Amino acid sequence: MKIRIPATSANLGPGFDSCGIALSQYLVIEVLEPREHWLIEHDLSASIPTNEENLLVQTALQVKADLPPHKIKMTSDIPVARGLGSSSSVIIAGIELANRLGNLNLSVKEKLDIATTIEGHPDNVAPAICGGFVVASYNDQEVSYVKHHFPECDVIAYIPNEELLTKESREALPSELTFGEAVKASSIANVMIAAVLNGNLPLAGKMMEKDLFHEAYRAKLVPHLAAVRKISQEEGGYGCYLSGAGPTILMIMPPDRTERMLKRLKDLDASVRLDVLSVDQEGVQVY
Ligand code: HSE
Repeated sequence: MKIRIPATSANLGPGFDSCGIALSQYLVIEVLEPREHWLIEHDLSASIPTNEENLLVQTALQVKADLPPHKIKMTSDIPVARGLGSSSSVIIAGIELANRLGNLNLSVKEKLDIATTIEGHPDNVAPAICGGFVVASYNDQEVSYVKHHFPECDVIAYIPNEELLTKESREALPSELTFGEAVKASSIANVMIAAVLNGNLPLAGKMMEKDLFHEAYRAKLVPHLAAVRKISQEEGGYGCYLSGAGPTILMIMPPDRTERMLKRLKDLDASVRLDVLSVDQEGVQVY
């Protein structure tokens, strides 16, 4: 059995802790033979445990404590600590692993409630489960969500070489906004969401660039955001935003502008990883 989970990009600018899309980069786990102790074979970072300390197993055991140990092969092209949902992908893999090995028959809603309780906010785990564009709210220990197809487009990920931990990036945020600021910030988010649902990417992208909840406070941690956004605007990108807590920057693109944009971004910094992705509309897959 294999379980495949997509990368995700949270926030889409103003949809802070609420909106996310799934992307065509994947974590794949292959469940191999049962054994006495858990063994996770991977060629990811040396700091990722290969025994039951691995987040995959920790999550699975949190869902069902008496799961039989297995050997598992783990591969991933989702970069770690770059704002593309790498830890969420492992959490979803762990929940699905428990679901299948433990014959739990969990619903999407049950998986989402468990994953959000672990992660603290739903904007990566929800699109990782559902695919496409997900708008979710986590209140009183309950997730309410809507999944929708995201309009066709290219997505360019500008992935800096340095990691940025979510914890550090959240510490840069203010503890309060004024009532007036909150009204303005939420109106921008509301129009962004409505525009995506209408298939209006030019308007959605414009709103993605007007976030008032977090990007300005994080700018000192991602100084390249302003330069990348300027290029995106000059080259006809729909919208450019900080992916999750950063440092990756995502550009939502009309496909005929992608090549020219890539050239401009390479000219800006040839050492940065640039991936051209699409939106994964399916979410977690088991095969
Ligand atoms: N919404 C979260 C943030 C996503 O921006 O901090 C990262 O986990």
